[in-house]
Amino acid sequence: MQVFGLVGNPVGHSLSPPMHEAAYETRDIDARYVTFEPAADDLAAAVEGARALGVSGLNVTVPYKERVRDLVAVDDLAARIGAVNTVDFGGDEPTGHNTDAAGARRALEVQGDADLDGADAVVVGAGGAGRAVAHGLADGGAAVAIANRTEERAVDLAADVPSATGHGLDVLPGLLGDATVLVNATSVGMEADETPVPADALHGDLVVLDAVYAPLETRLLRDAATAGATTVDGAWMLLYQGAEAFELWTGRRAPVAAMDDALRTRLRDDR
Ligand code: ATR
Repeated sequence: MQVFGLVGNPVGHSLSPPMHEAAYETRDIDARYVTFEPAADDLAAAVEGARALGVSGLNVTVPYKERVRDLVAVDDLAARIGAVNTVDFGGDEPTGHNTDAAGARRALEVQGDADLDGADAVVVGAGGAGRAVAHGLADGGAAVAIANRTEERAVDLAADVPSATGHGLDVLPGLLGDATVLVNATSVGMEADETPVPADALHGDLVVLDAVYAPLETRLLRDAATAGATTVDGAWMLLYQGAEAFELWTGRRAPVAAMDDALRTRLRDDR
């Protein structure tokens, strides 16, 4: 039996175990997906211990994505993002990857039918999620405008992302005028029914992805639907980052319908 897992703190409410175990069942893979909560001081020992025990792969979540980047050999994208969310133990040495970027891109392309190549895209947020999304969209060929409450963080991030620009939130209406893609990569909308984007700046030519998945229907997505935009909820981004990790670990196509079903069932049960 193969073992996969998630390393973070806390990980008790993670949606990844049911999502990945549904994939193993569908593809007839003898594997389990378990959660680990090492203390910060034990992180390096935990990753080395997982390798020594024959664990096949690990996902990494808050607050360890940046630190794991320094513990394993990383691919170019994870190096640019500065964070690892997937470790593959299948090769000669553990390798670190970031599937959050491709997760956002696939959610927009597959669920939102967005064409990123040459598109004007706006990413709201310049934290860890914002970094991954901005790099993901730029890799897909989009010109990315990053808007953040703390403008300096957006400007700093933009300097690392090809053909990106950094801004404060005040200029969002101007940035959105010609844009066809909008992603909320802030935590706004999670705690309260709030949105970082003024409703009257939204329009019908936008595909809008909200990385927030609890609640699934955020105020931003409601406003976007009212404006006639195409909406993509945060569970799709979560699903596709998981699908990318599954494909990296197993070399097989992810059964996205089964994974989506497991994910949404758990989200409904948690409500
Ligand atoms: P994560 O890794 O999940 O992105 P983070 O690094 O703490 O978490 O970043 C949170 C993001 O949400 C940041 O872009 C943050 O803006 P600041 O850089 O100005 O802090 C944004 N954010 C959080 N609360 C916000 C709020 N009430 N209004 C606007 N942006 C907010």
